[in-house]
Amino acid sequence: MRLETPNKLEELRKSILEKQDPNKQKILVCGGTGCISNGSLEVAKAFEAELKSQKLKAEVEVKITGCHGFCERGPLVVFLPQSIFYERVDLKGVPDILKETLISGVPHDKYLYRMTKKDDPITKEEDIPFYKNQLRWVLRHNGKIDPTSIDEYIAQGGYSALAKALNGLSPERIVDEIDKAGLRGRGGGGFSTARKWRSVKDADGGPDNIRYVICNGDEGDPGAFMDRSLMEGDPHSVIEGMIIGAYAIGSNKGYIYVRMEYPLAVKHLDLAIKSARDYGLLGENILGSGFSFDIEINRGGGAFVCGESSALMASIMGRAGEPRAKYVHSSEKGLNDLPTNLNNVETWANVPLIINRGADWFAAVGTEKSKGTKVFSLVGSVNNVGLVEVPMGLSLREIIYGIGGGIPGGKKFKAVQTGGPSGGCIPEAHLDAPVDFDELTKLGSMMGSGGMIVMDEKTCMVDVAKYFINFLVDESCGKCTPCREGLRQLLIVLTRITEGKGKEGDIELLKDIGDCMTWGSLCALGGSASNPVISTIKYFRDEYEAHIKEKRCPAGVCQDLITFSIIEGDCIGCGRCLKVCPSSAITGENKKPHVIDEKLCIRCRACYEVCPVDAVMIE
Ligand SMILES: Cc1cc2nc3c(=O)[nH]c(=O)nc-3n(C[C@H](O)[C@H](O)[C@H](O)COP(=O)(O)O)c2cc1C
Ligand code: SF4
Ligand code: SF4
Ligand code: SF4
Ligand code: FES
Repeated sequence: MRLETPNKLEELRKSILEKQDPNKQKILVCGGTGCISNGSLEVAKAFEAELKSQKLKAEVEVKITGCHGFCERGPLVVFLPQSIFYERVDLKGVPDILKETLISGVPHDKYLYRMTKKDDPITKEEDIPFYKNQLRWVLRHNGKIDPTSIDEYIAQGGYSALAKALNGLSPERIVDEIDKAGLRGRGGGGFSTARKWRSVKDADGGPDNIRYVICNGDEGDPGAFMDRSLMEGDPHSVIEGMIIGAYAIGSNKGYIYVRMEYPLAVKHLDLAIKSARDYGLLGENILGSGFSFDIEINRGGGAFVCGESSALMASIMGRAGEPRAKYVHSSEKGLNDLPTNLNNVETWANVPLIINRGADWFAAVGTEKSKGTKVFSLVGSVNNVGLVEVPMGLSLREIIYGIGGGIPGGKKFKAVQTGGPSGGCIPEAHLDAPVDFDELTKLGSMMGSGGMIVMDEKTCMVDVAKYFINFLVDESCGKCTPCREGLRQLLIVLTRITEGKGKEGDIELLKDIGDCMTWGSLCALGGSASNPVISTIKYFRDEYEAHIKEKRCPAGVCQDLITFSIIEGDCIGCGRCLKVCPSSAITGENKKPHVIDEKLCIRCRACYEVCPVDAVMIE
């Protein structure tokens, strides 16, 4: 069915809403990649089967949604309208959850959320600290609607921003509104979206006046899943943002570049594009406005560098994903040497919100130069791992402790790494810093696309720097010398420091190499790659010195610098360490103190991990 006018869209919305019963019992089962891998689709089937056998199928709807954000606790199931939140639901639990929630009217205690096993359960989703302290604007539909249904998106007001734009806002007015809102790109450098749109709009589109828009869904940062969850859980919001942007810029052709490892995102985007076409929201003469635009999906091979703008465009054109020098701007000569506008998934998803609610509404949240919200994937040593959306300017402490629930096992916070593999590590002294584009840069890190990795006292900061540099060595495309060789040299120096072979002057050498890469690299991969090294030297220089001068790893991580022993007075002789030791380095009789033979020990940490009384000591 084609919607010929904006009024037809409104009529469709009304008719969908009329058919919906807001009080109908719903069971929302998370169908995001994380929960699917934990068996959520089987759980959904089990609910359906149980409802059938209880003859409740007509009264209860089971809906598979996108990611709810709290992936660590998946599979997640939410009962509406009660808003009862169940975590780690398995097949065994389905009959009792159903019986107790729907028949007895009492939530089934066993699967309710508890921060730790000792805590009291929290029943309602909105009372869980992880959700309570967020501001979910971009993620508003994630976990609430079925992402494979365009009607559900439309029922929530979907495509009304597009109708508003095509029905009365000039392209200039749209760019002005985005400008007034202060929207900055969510994919990397925080560049002004309106400024970018204007340059593409004003650029020479050649004899056929062609411009392209692209959505960057490459998301190569290890541990990041913000964009994946949006593409999987609310694909229409990204598509709607792209259509509005294309109208504002004067483009008739768009691409969504998605990495190969995201099959569910591709499936949902593909379906969303097809259903938007069926309704006449994509294709020729959208909503009868005379404006035509269509979108194609392009799949990336999974190389981190392909997220960089010029490499991404080369990849779409079938060339090797290598960046090019930036004196040629892609806003003038991008894809096929024509003006091209690239924005990140989250940037596009913000556009319908701004057009619908207005620039002032959007700009009322955030800091002076960073407006709106930001989605982060909060991972690492934090109690509540997941996808969080917060107003710009919230402090790192509020995110890590207020939403993330702090550090597990009573350990001490050590640092948080933001901005992906070439971001920096921020220490405890700056936990109260407001999180926005400029503050993170001032601290020697960056916003990047929203990765946030929390580290506790058991983390060695030299080892962390080595980990990220190792990742980047593999991901550098090798086109320019400062990045290709600089990364290798950084890795050589960091490796020798962690092996206890560090030399006097190595810290200065690392800084020199880093400087050379920052100034001499062709693209931002090399330009920012030394951040993990420079920021850890800045904030944790004593750890580097302990490794180099004292041949000691204070966090007890670097294998060549540590020894394992058992504290005689603490050992209860349970024998667990002896059983797991892969090199038979441990001896001891039952209920008597055990001993480690240092010569046989290969420093695998297994004994340390299993000891129930912390009797294994690392020095
Ligand atoms: C090595 C490298 C990888 C990048 N990866 C991504 C990515 O996965 N997703 C993304 O949106 N931007 C990525 N960027 C940033 C893009 O080049 C570009 O700035 C961004 O997509 C622009 O969109 P925005 O203005 O909406 O942020 C990367 C940049 C570099 C240098
Ligand atoms: S900086 Fe690194 S990734 Fe970028 S072009 Fe040079 S070698 Fe390739
Ligand atoms: S660290 Fe590994 S090898 Fe060494 S004693 Fe413990 S379990 Fe055995
Ligand atoms: S696991 Fe711990 S308590 Fe048990 S024998 Fe080993 S050192 Fe002793
Ligand atoms: S995948 Fe289920 S909560 Fe994220």
